[in-house]
Amino acid sequence: MCGIIGIIGIQDVSDRLVDGLKRLEYRGYDSAGIATLVDSGIDRRRAEGKLVNLENVLSDSPLAGITGIGHTRWATHGVPSENNAHPHMTDETAIVHNGIIENFQELRDELAKKGRTFDSDTDTEVVAHLVHAYLDEGLSPEEAVAKMLPKVEGAFAFVMIFRGQHDLMIGARRGSPLAIGYGEGEMYFGSDAMALAPLTRKICYMEEGDWAVLTREGAKVMDTAGNVVDRPVVQTAVSGAVIGKGNYRHFMLKEIYEQPTVIGDTLSTMLHPAQQTITLPDLPVDLKDVPKVTINACGTAFYAGMVTKYWLEQLARVPVEVDMASEFRYRNPPLPKDGLAMFVSQSGETMDTLEALRLCKREGQHILSVLNMPESTMDRESDAVLMTHAGPEIGVASTKAFTTQLTVLACFAIGMAKARGHLTREREAQLASALAEVPGRVAEILNHDDHIAEIAQKVAEARDVLYLGRGPSFPIALEGALKLKEISYIHAEGYASGEMKHGPIALLDEDVPVVVIAPSDELYEKTASNVQEAIARGAKVIFISDKEGIEKMKRHSNPMATIELPKVDPFVAPILYTIPVQLLSYHTAVLKGTDVDQPRNLAKSVTVE
Ligand code: AGP
Repeated sequence: MCGIIGIIGIQDVSDRLVDGLKRLEYRGYDSAGIATLVDSGIDRRRAEGKLVNLENVLSDSPLAGITGIGHTRWATHGVPSENNAHPHMTDETAIVHNGIIENFQELRDELAKKGRTFDSDTDTEVVAHLVHAYLDEGLSPEEAVAKMLPKVEGAFAFVMIFRGQHDLMIGARRGSPLAIGYGEGEMYFGSDAMALAPLTRKICYMEEGDWAVLTREGAKVMDTAGNVVDRPVVQTAVSGAVIGKGNYRHFMLKEIYEQPTVIGDTLSTMLHPAQQTITLPDLPVDLKDVPKVTINACGTAFYAGMVTKYWLEQLARVPVEVDMASEFRYRNPPLPKDGLAMFVSQSGETMDTLEALRLCKREGQHILSVLNMPESTMDRESDAVLMTHAGPEIGVASTKAFTTQLTVLACFAIGMAKARGHLTREREAQLASALAEVPGRVAEILNHDDHIAEIAQKVAEARDVLYLGRGPSFPIALEGALKLKEISYIHAEGYASGEMKHGPIALLDEDVPVVVIAPSDELYEKTASNVQEAIARGAKVIFISDKEGIEKMKRHSNPMATIELPKVDPFVAPILYTIPVQLLSYHTAVLKGTDVDQPRNLAKSVTVE
């Protein structure tokens, strides 16, 4: 996802623009640039690759100017290159943009017929030329942007500056987040509060369809129809502290090791260890009466939703439907009156999940989201939010966000089961006690890191890897496969282990490692027989279970490697069995030499469809 920063300053802004972009690096990008108003007009510096390349360009060729914009680009239209890097500009205006202009080709063709020529392959540059064409008609910058907005289709957040207009910035939001910052004699635009935090804590979150004209005096915010609207200015709690890696080689490893702490922090919001009870916050829906729960999310968050289906159906006896948000949005699902629609998202900005939320809202569902980023769009558009307390997750691959999502959802499942009268006091105490032990158990597992790093040697040589699990372990198999794919670039698939004999077992030979997630639960025996089928065909099995499970396996078969976890209540096994698959993917990626924290092609939060 691209990152945007804009400053109307009282002194040169290039250093602070780059500093703001550094706080947006976590979103993933492939190039960056800034532009400022200078005496001769507009000037810019851009560079492909990491921000350090842009800093080197600026060191060789500094950029003055007290009004400017900056951008980190995650390529959609046009390859990652300096020439396609933002800002895009004409000699009258410069623009930075996050999102996709869906009718850019049509607009580009119209402008080309009028003699305009383009320097890049991007959709963004077309907007700069369109606004320039309206300026040439004698319109003011505000009038030109007002005329342009209805012409462009798609999702975007953008910010523009104009030649000679040192006290002006115009920004718009349609589908991608954009915030306004209020300084002392300065004004700002930013993709999120994190980017603006070093500049100001006074933030105004623009709403869907809003656009804003900023001067040193403040902001004039208008809705899609051009009516001036009043948006609240809040004191953001988001820290501007630059989050470092500490003594860790990568943010991902730091965040894996933070899990005992952040899972504990998250538990403390609902778990009372002494009383061994779980208390949910007051919710604007009576969980007793909910006829059905639908859960929407993407990627890793979707797997958290899949685990939750098992928990809610088994404990609360409520029908649950889980869907990838990108599929749910377009299948026009029938939704029951007064249904509960849940959304799981680390960023709170994922476009597909957000649009599924809006669909469910239109259909009269109760909206409950599990989020990690306060003040995010989903935070503002949900009826209620259960926050994870993972803290900012910088690594693009989701780790602590996932296990804290599971932690919140486990507590929610217990709370909903209680509300529906399906949980005895004794069983609640057992589950609460099992949850209370999770932080310590996770810490224990992290002590196996060296053993898992050794096993990674075998995985790093593979071209294909399978991950198997049954029941609540099946989504963890999917998550393990996703982790490996997204940071080591090795093809991996997660499968319900009972499905292997229906086709995928044909894939097995001595070159295909098979990672099996098999806690000693009621499905263990079934999974064990699937493993024996695989080993009998030469598969190299990496068997993850507790002591009892591993001993049983070794009586019949000889896995290539085993990873022993503490024996726990099966209810909390999905949280604990995530840790070894996270570490396995991390160490494999390190062996492969990939960019672990910012893997190729990936963004931390996907605000485009
Ligand atoms: C997971 O490692 C990925 N980074 C990705 O699948 C992510 O979980 C997905 O894009 C959803 O993001 P969200 O939680 O911010 O909505």
